[in-house]
Amino acid sequence: MKVTIIGAGNMGGAIARGLAKGTIVGAADITVSDPSEKMLQQLQKEFPEMVVTTDNRTAVGDADFVIVAVKPWLMKPVLAELPLQSQQVLVSVAAGVSFEQLVEYTAAPEMTMFRLVPNTAMSQLESMTLIASRQATPEHERLMVEIFNEMGLAMLVPESQIAATTALTSCGIAYVLKYIQAAMQAGVEMGLYPKDAQRMVAQSVKGAAALILNNDNTHPSLEIDKVTTPGGITIKGINELEHAGFTSAIIRAMKASR
Ligand SMILES: NC(=O)c1ccc[n+]([C@@H]2O[C@H](COP(=O)([O-])OP(=O)(O)OC[C@H]3O[C@@H](n4cnc5c(N)ncnc54)[C@H](OP(=O)(O)O)[C@@H]3O)[C@@H](O)[C@H]2O)c1
Repeated sequence: MKVTIIGAGNMGGAIARGLAKGTIVGAADITVSDPSEKMLQQLQKEFPEMVVTTDNRTAVGDADFVIVAVKPWLMKPVLAELPLQSQQVLVSVAAGVSFEQLVEYTAAPEMTMFRLVPNTAMSQLESMTLIASRQATPEHERLMVEIFNEMGLAMLVPESQIAATTALTSCGIAYVLKYIQAAMQAGVEMGLYPKDAQRMVAQSVKGAAALILNNDNTHPSLEIDKVTTPGGITIKGINELEHAGFTSAIIRAMKASR
């Protein structure tokens, strides 16, 4: 299977690296196109077999999947110049660009298309990646989920849920980082070195996520019950969070990001 990536910035570059490290597409079957020679040289240094070019038109060639990872406002001009063929699958990473717009920009209503919403943990192969499909076969959908499961966790969602799910994942990662930053501030006030506090909090967040992700039969409330001894220090802290409006603030933040 051949994959072309147009745009090798944060997302395109992370996807190219993730694909090359994965088991489904070989590095020699990945072509990356970007105006920046420097970006391309760096990728080729890491993966000598990867094909790189500054010419989007030749990059598309006979690729099975064409992943476009340029800024949303560049989607229209970039797609307009791509010589896409109807049997190719188009994957758009651009936030907020609908299938309706993609059809308009490509003038290819018959094409199978996907919208992909990764988050920045893609660079660590730990992305929560949302995938919406248009005119895709179950086989195409299965393949997309398989590919992006190798870069974290991937889930199919209807396009109508992209805005809400993006708030939870793409924006949500920033709220988790905000929690890490706030907890570090507390640690520093209590006498810890920032670096130590950062590692302690980050590993605790990773542990909390593992408790949930590794057990289908659990729930945050159940895990919280396990650490809240009656009259103990954890329930005192949790109630302080509630007095300060923690749950409400998270709900409001998620809804504001929709
Ligand atoms: N970052 C996120 O958390 C995130 C999450 C979900 C979705 N997205 C989406 O991912 C897309 C890319 O975002 P990003 O953060 O990766 O941006 P980025 O780092 O700026 O990457 C975009 C890349 O595209 C290149 N480019 C510009 N014009 C091009 C053209 N005509 N042909 C080919 N490549 C071109 C840019 O090169 P130059 O720098 O030389 O112009 C840059 O290397 C956006 O549409 C964004 O909405 C991002």
